[in-house]
Amino acid sequence: MPGSANWARGELLRDAEFDRIYPEWVRKVSESHWTPVSVARRAAELLVVDESTRVLDVGSGVGKFCLVGAMVTPATFFGAEQRASLVEIARQAATACELSRVHFVHENMMTIDWSGYDSFYLFNPYSEHIFDYSSPIEDPITTSLDHYNRYVTTTCRRLVAAPVGVRVVTYYGYGGPMPSGYRRILREPAGKNYLELWVKESSGQDDG
Ligand SMILES: C[S@@+](CC[C@H](N)C(=O)[O-])C[C@H]1O[C@@H](n2cnc3c(N)ncnc32)[C@H](O)[C@@H]1O
Repeated sequence: MPGSANWARGELLRDAEFDRIYPEWVRKVSESHWTPVSVARRAAELLVVDESTRVLDVGSGVGKFCLVGAMVTPATFFGAEQRASLVEIARQAATACELSRVHFVHENMMTIDWSGYDSFYLFNPYSEHIFDYSSPIEDPITTSLDHYNRYVTTTCRRLVAAPVGVRVVTYYGYGGPMPSGYRRILREPAGKNYLELWVKESSGQDDG
């Protein structure tokens, strides 16, 4: 079982080892749907400034990113997830890991209040609507291009409304562009794709 103590000793668990905390079906789809441990660790390091940082994972799944983030940084992690079944699994995993700085809510991104967070993590959350996964998440949802477009457009609007200073890390992007006012600080290979760190440096309204 992945406990904080391992991480305090600087050990980096393999995904198969970390995923033992989850039910079997969750493990089977891990490679397609959940952030790998090493990627989560790096993403968290990029998003967290200090112990006061509040990080929101939009579409938190079974909580893997948040759990790893809370193990390797002093920040507080929040996950919002549309599937109640996954929220329950994430909460049980947090309890098993004895992590108190992680919180999961059952909520669609359309109704989440994005204020009050310093950093956002987006692992291409809406891709199910446009991509036919060979290993889908159990607990199917109704997929549609219309949903996809609304989620991407709303995410972009929330990022426009976010205050100067927020940090955003994407893994496989989020499906839309970063609004003006955001500067890409880095793009580096991670897992089978790239992590990108963006920081909002201006309101964007004066940008050409
Ligand atoms: C690619 S998985 C990433 C899971 C997690 N962030 C991680 O890195 O391990 C995307 C997750 O986003 C959730 N999701 C997709 N659309 C959503 C929406 N509109 N509101 C909330 N969650 C959503 C899916 O149910 C899925 O669990």
